[in-house]
Amino acid sequence: MGLVIRGGTVVNAGERFEADVKVEGRTITAIGSDLAKGAGDTVIDAAGRFVLPGLIDPHVHMELPFMGTVSADDFETGTASGIAGGTTSIIDFCIPAPGTSLLDGLKMWRERAAKAAADYSFHMAITGWGEKTAEEMRAVVRDHGITSFKVFMAYKGAIMVDDHALYQVMKVAAETGAVVTVHAENGDVVWNLQRELIAKGHTGPEYHPVSRPSAVEGEATERALTMARLHDAAAYIVHMTCSESVRALERAKIAGQRCYGETCPQYLLLDDKVFNAADFGGSTYVMSPPIRARGLGHHEALWSGLSNGMMDSVGTDHCPFTHEQKKMGAKDFTKIPNGAAGIEDRLAILYTHGVAAGKFSLERLVELGATAPARIFGLTKKGTVAVGMDADLVIFNPDAKGVRSAKTHFSKADRSIFEGFEVKGKVERTIVGGRVAFENGKLMAERGAGRFIARKPTHFAREPEVKA
Ligand code: URP
Ligand code: ZN
Ligand code: ZN
Repeated sequence: MGLVIRGGTVVNAGERFEADVKVEGRTITAIGSDLAKGAGDTVIDAAGRFVLPGLIDPHVHMELPFMGTVSADDFETGTASGIAGGTTSIIDFCIPAPGTSLLDGLKMWRERAAKAAADYSFHMAITGWGEKTAEEMRAVVRDHGITSFKVFMAYKGAIMVDDHALYQVMKVAAETGAVVTVHAENGDVVWNLQRELIAKGHTGPEYHPVSRPSAVEGEATERALTMARLHDAAAYIVHMTCSESVRALERAKIAGQRCYGETCPQYLLLDDKVFNAADFGGSTYVMSPPIRARGLGHHEALWSGLSNGMMDSVGTDHCPFTHEQKKMGAKDFTKIPNGAAGIEDRLAILYTHGVAAGKFSLERLVELGATAPARIFGLTKKGTVAVGMDADLVIFNPDAKGVRSAKTHFSKADRSIFEGFEVKGKVERTIVGGRVAFENGKLMAERGAGRFIARKPTHFAREPEVKA
């Protein structure tokens, strides 16, 4: 007894073809014609629909303790929200408090994530450098299936690392074959700019982007890539927003460095006018790095990077806070919890503004949102519709239309940064681990159905510049 998705158009990163897809248990067991023959098989008619691999979100923060509060979606509501938008796996960030053990942090995150409705893994954040950090990093890769790290070059006084830590993280990561994901902004400069603005009485959310100019992101991107190059570590720059960063990545790639760039829909679609929304509405959009102004080439650099292959993936940085939580920064924009919801919007937004707008193909969307994250981070059973792969699938109707809104999304966020955006195409069904978890607007995601996915390293160092 299985599930047969009949007559759809399967779209992978490098191909599209009409076929039936058969699922048994959690696995795709056959792809071909006339597969709907088994007695007792459940048949889903997918004629006129695309059958996509479930998207992977390589950048989310569920129930993250951050800036004096906790992000509003937990692992259950956040993964459920993702399922409604066609995302069937996440990689969250395990962020142990500075000075605490990576292994204790991992235990805590695994307990929190046990209620996830979709499969998950973690990037391990290094929030300081101590005597035990190198050995703990090795243990995390060797014994726990965590093969990517995270460093924050911003958030001074909290989780920011200095260049010493950055250097050491790159070194150990290269040794272990792990990828280092990087939040690239010069946190010292941001801290100074924030203090100067507040001292002048510039306290509103519209000063958030002023405190984090694109040059600050470009400089940190360049520095992170330099550190990675010294050790031949694989670096993955998260949530890129600006042309300076894209150019830095481009230079490193052309020089043969193993590095990757991710952006998010908000940086492609929105601009800094959002910060002027009345009644502290601009706080909804406060995230770091900030949404950029138009007319400076940032949006264009990101779009062309996605089209021409220079950029590698689109994540969401899903990290919602309610308006009440955002009010923590009502008198001081530096205290507004940074982050917004997005996991449910990514496929619809990319399809509308990427594929339907002619910027890239649906195959490329699949690559950016599923296949590349799977390959870069070692999710070997995900990201492609093929026999033997996990049965995480999306049935997508390209002819339907919709409107994104906090009134209809499943996230706990009470505002949407894409409020009122008209979109083409619709997720009709999402299949997670072989079971229909979302169907025609109805969520059937199961608390705890998600599994932790242990990964193997995807990169090994070549001859490093630094031989010590
Ligand atoms: O503003 C953001 N991006 N919040 C989440 C934490 C991070 O920096 O990714
Ligand atoms: Zn970040
Ligand atoms: Zn993030």
